[in-house]
Amino acid sequence: MGSASSLTYQLGSGPLRVSPIGLGCWQFSQSTGLSGKYWGRLPRETVRQIVAVSLQAGVNWFDTAESYGRGASESELSEALKYQDVKPGDVVLATKWFPLLRPASSITESIGKRLSALGGFPIDLYQIHFPGSRSSIERQMEAMAELHEAGKIRAVGVSNFNAAQMRRAHAALAKHNIPLSSNQVRFSLLDREIERNGVLATAQELGVSIIAYSPLAQGLLSGKFHDNPGLVRSRPGARKFLKRFRRSNLRKTAPVIERLRGIAEQHGMRSAQVALAWVVQVHGESIVAVAGATKIRHAESNSAALQLRLTESEIQELNEVTQRHA
Ligand SMILES: NC(=O)c1ccc[n+]([C@@H]2O[C@H](COP(=O)([O-])OP(=O)(O)OC[C@H]3O[C@@H](n4cnc5c(N)ncnc54)[C@H](OP(=O)(O)O)[C@@H]3O)[C@@H](O)[C@H]2O)c1
Repeated sequence: MGSASSLTYQLGSGPLRVSPIGLGCWQFSQSTGLSGKYWGRLPRETVRQIVAVSLQAGVNWFDTAESYGRGASESELSEALKYQDVKPGDVVLATKWFPLLRPASSITESIGKRLSALGGFPIDLYQIHFPGSRSSIERQMEAMAELHEAGKIRAVGVSNFNAAQMRRAHAALAKHNIPLSSNQVRFSLLDREIERNGVLATAQELGVSIIAYSPLAQGLLSGKFHDNPGLVRSRPGARKFLKRFRRSNLRKTAPVIERLRGIAEQHGMRSAQVALAWVVQVHGESIVAVAGATKIRHAESNSAALQLRLTESEIQELNEVTQRHA
């Protein structure tokens, strides 16, 4: 095993190896479309720097989607990578097809648009964003297999699939000898549902990696909203309306932040870094994470968490405190 920053986990049994922490690029949606409004607009220079500092710290992969600004995030990411002189194939790129009310045929029909939004970077991992297509999971996987066989994508993933849906996707791809590489789902110290609803156990049984999204619970696990509950009102999107950002919920989860801070202090790190390290260490190599950043210092801090190794007893302490207070 190399230094912590060069450590990679294999995505399922597929061809991709990724740093345990990748960069989530929803934040690059430039306020375009409904989901793009969630984070507001970022100056191009900020996007470039977020990508640059992530690469420097050993992040080797990036997660984007068709629906993130209707291609704006894919284009911003590709621009920032080119600005850093990154060549196609130097990094792992994951994007997602938007399935809502669309048939499986749109997976193959729209691939040209995705590739052109990515400006010459290939699609390493192509994911179904959520189970909302008009076609069956089997038909969607057939379309993915067609793209795979045509060399247009290197690996197939799903997102927001429950255990039964993941099984169906896995079985449909197996008919083409293609592994299901990943299921991207919400997972953090404050969102441990996949440990109870069969998603994690099924992924482990099938050899599918979990990609944890919102691993910082959208900034909550940094502790900044606990310190300043009014802060969320300054944010552009819908976070201010979410129950978990309310004062009563901040009080409930405060012991988690306290524990994170205590552990962070021992390591000379920050709570957000401990929270990320927990996500990618609590279940061995079964889980990788994509963390988003709206500021350069977030990307610096999040990618530096690649260097942090938690002890078994620290992981246990965090498990216990979230059982009672998450
Ligand atoms: N497949 C799906 O359905 C799905 C759903 C959601 C997300 N995702 C993917 O997962 C990625 C990450 O998820 P996410 O963006 O929802 O949540 P997240 O990574 O938990 O939180 C990101 C937000 O937290 C704040 N933050 C980040 N690092 C911080 C730090 N070190 N200190 C303090 N605040 C920090 C920033 O917001 P502020 O500065 O504004 O507070 C940032 O935009 C997305 O970019 C996307 O690629 C996928």
